[in-house]
This record gives sequence, C-alpha cells and structure tokens, in this order.
Amino acid sequence: MSADSRLIAIDHGSVDDIAALRELWLELHHHHAQVAPQSGEFVDDASSWRVRSSSYREWLADPRSFLLLARFEERVVGYALVRVMDAGPELTDSWRVPAAVAEIETMLVSAPFRGAGLGTRLLDAIDAELERQGITEVIVGLMPGNDGAQRLYERRGFRRRWLVLARGEGELARTARAMQPNPADLPCVLLRPCRRRD
Ligand SMILES: CC(C)(COP(=O)(O)OP(=O)(O)OC[C@H]1O[C@@H](n2cnc3c(N)ncnc32)[C@H](O)[C@@H]1OP(=O)(O)O)[C@@H](O)C(=O)NCCC(=O)NCCS
Repeated sequence: MSADSRLIAIDHGSVDDIAALRELWLELHHHHAQVAPQSGEFVDDASSWRVRSSSYREWLADPRSFLLLARFEERVVGYALVRVMDAGPELTDSWRVPAAVAEIETMLVSAPFRGAGLGTRLLDAIDAELERQGITEVIVGLMPGNDGAQRLYERRGFRRRWLVLARGEGELARTARAMQPNPADLPCVLLRPCRRRD
C-alpha cells in the first residue's frame, strides 16, 4: 500500500516507541543482507533486534539523541534514529570537527512507501532538529551496494569520509573454496557461450 507522503505525519518518538520498531528494523536488516551479501555473515532476526534495540535504548539515554517516527494512520511506516555524541578520537585524530557530532544510525522507509518523498522529509526533519541543537557535523554509514540510499545522501551534500575493509573469520576458507569451485558452479565466461547448470 502506498500513500501520499503528505498524509504521513513525522513526529518525535521516545524510548517507549522502540518496541514498535522491530518489524521495520528487520526490514532494514533484510535489505542489508540483500544488497550487501558479500559484506559478511548476517545474524538471525532475533539476535539482530536484541542488539539493535539495546543500542537504541543506550543512544536515546543521551537527551541530545532523537528518534523521528513517520506515521500513516497510526502505523509507523518509517523512522530515523540519530545519535548525538561528543566527537571521539577516531574523528579528532584526523579531522577538525566540532565538539559534538551526529550520526544517522538508522533511516528506513517501509518498502511500499518508498520513492514518494518520505525519506527526504525525514532527512529534512533531521536537519531541522540538528540545526536547532547547533550540530553541524553529521555522519552516516552505508553498506556497500546500498546505492539508492547513497545517491539520496550525496544529493544532500554527504561525501565519502572513510572506507572500512574487513576480513572476517572464515574469509580465507571462503576464498580457498572459491578458488577450487565445484565444476557445476563455474560461472559463465566470455571465451565460449555456456549455460550455468542449476
Ligand atoms: C533510503 C530510503 C530511506 C529513502 O526513502 P524514500 O522515501 O524512498 O526517499 P525519497 O522518496 O525521499 O527519495 C527517493 C530517493 O531515495 C533513494 N532510494 C533508495 N532506495 C530506494 C527505493 N527502494 N525506492 C525509491 N527510492 C530509493 C533514491 O536515491 C531515490 O532517489 P532517485 O529517485 O534519484 O533514485 C528508503 O528507500 C529506504 O528505507 N531504503 C532501505 C533502507 C536504507 O537503505 N536505509 C538507509 C540506510 S542508512
């Protein structure tokens, strides 16, 4: 179901709203697993939500951090959680940044409501609250392959600041397996026409 984004109200939420965000968070978790399968092994839904909801409670304990909820007919169809914190050494050892910085920890619009301007409105609401607080430095992390979201952020002035590479446990074993593939799994190459056997 989609709806005119103007019919959707955006309001501030609180820790009391965290429990209602489970399904939306899992939609983002599944989106990440879909767009960035190569980034690592994704945890199951229960673990994901247990850890994330606990982080939300911790972050919102700082009164500068905030949660924005987009509601359509009482139902939450999108949200953004922004953490405001003191700039830590991982920033200040390299860049001149203000004493307090913000990080967009989560931004999600439920799939049927995407592409109608709601994400833009959430970002406008984030900017308004950060301006009210006098925060000028905002960070957002993205999984590689989340190109649509990256385009949206870049249109609003975000630029790459750092790139994180990882090699997890099992990565070497996976690489070794990939170098000795099952012949049935060999990918098509351009030397000759072939059809993958499924
Ligand atoms: C990113 C997201 C919040 C944007 O919300 P939205 O309501 O679709 O945004 P808007 O309608 O205001 O703007 C559309 C822009 O969002 C981006 N976008 C990302 N995913 C999109 C999707 N599935 N459908 C439509 N637009 C998408 C595009 O840049 C699009 O611009 P384009 O038309 O030039 O491609 C939303 O698409 C979403 O929840 N995506 C999955 C979760 C995610 O990636 N969150 C960000 C991780 S930090």
